[in-house]
Amino acid sequence: MNHLLSIEQLTGDEIAHLVNRAVDLKKNRKSSPQVLTGQTWALIFNKSSTRTRVSFEVGIRELGGSPMFLSGSEMQLGRGEPVKDTARVLGRMVDGAVIRTYAQQDVVDFAHYSKLPTINALTDDEHPCQILADLQTMQERLGGWKGKRVCFLGDGDCNVARSWIWASARLGFELVIGAPKAFQPAESFMSGVPGNTVRVEADAAKAVSGCDVVYTDVWVSMGKEAESAERIDILRPYQINEQLMSHANNGAVIMHCLPAYRGKEITDSVMEAHADVIFDEAENRLHAQKAVIVELMRARA
Ligand code: CP
Ligand code: NVA
Repeated sequence: MNHLLSIEQLTGDEIAHLVNRAVDLKKNRKSSPQVLTGQTWALIFNKSSTRTRVSFEVGIRELGGSPMFLSGSEMQLGRGEPVKDTARVLGRMVDGAVIRTYAQQDVVDFAHYSKLPTINALTDDEHPCQILADLQTMQERLGGWKGKRVCFLGDGDCNVARSWIWASARLGFELVIGAPKAFQPAESFMSGVPGNTVRVEADAAKAVSGCDVVYTDVWVSMGKEAESAERIDILRPYQINEQLMSHANNGAVIMHCLPAYRGKEITDSVMEAHADVIFDEAENRLHAQKAVIVELMRARA
């Protein structure tokens, strides 16, 4: 593994290995391997972030390196300098890059032109770091994903949903996307996903039925703000609330990538009742991303 650009590009074995590594790093947090000694990593963010930014800054330090946060809008990038030129400049100065932006192609181009180990910290297409942390949380809470059924509710064509779809295809667990027609995964995307582990279901109660994990994300992803009112209106039946959860398996785990908008995709009472898991999931971003960096350094050694 030379980069982490998507879940799509990983094999099932690579995903499982990263999750196991993340579990180990969490157990032994005080003795993290110092694989980044003497290294500076650039964190280029073109979108807002709390968890991703903080977990990468802390994780890079815990691995012995120095993070350098760069807001895309304050770089020449924000004034139109091409990604490939930015990449070639940084490639001569820093040792690795973490990028949050819009187009997946920009992360692919950055990795190519910079020749740096490059990590996708969220694009419009995928959020691979999130899904690795989610799988780690499933490992901790359910002993893994084998034989489990996960339901993703809400915007079934967003980055987080797409990374879940790839995780299901690669690892072989059942995934139900509970979404209305307007927010179901695009056919052009689904036609490229191998296997038959993913089912799309428009009825929210049927979607969560028989599920071990019920997962949601914001209804209005970054960059989609102009569609807010329409999205909230159409997605309302997919809110995670007590009534909907009565259709899921007893003891089903609720997960949310955060930030959460209470009263929209999840009610306050359900969010608070499942806060232990949800904030473990947020913490696991740190461990999962450290696992990715350790693996990237191993591949380059
Ligand atoms: N879940 C997630 O990526 O959170 P941030 O947007 O705060 O980084
Ligand atoms: N789908 C969301 C994820 C936020 C972490 C977005 O792209 O805004």
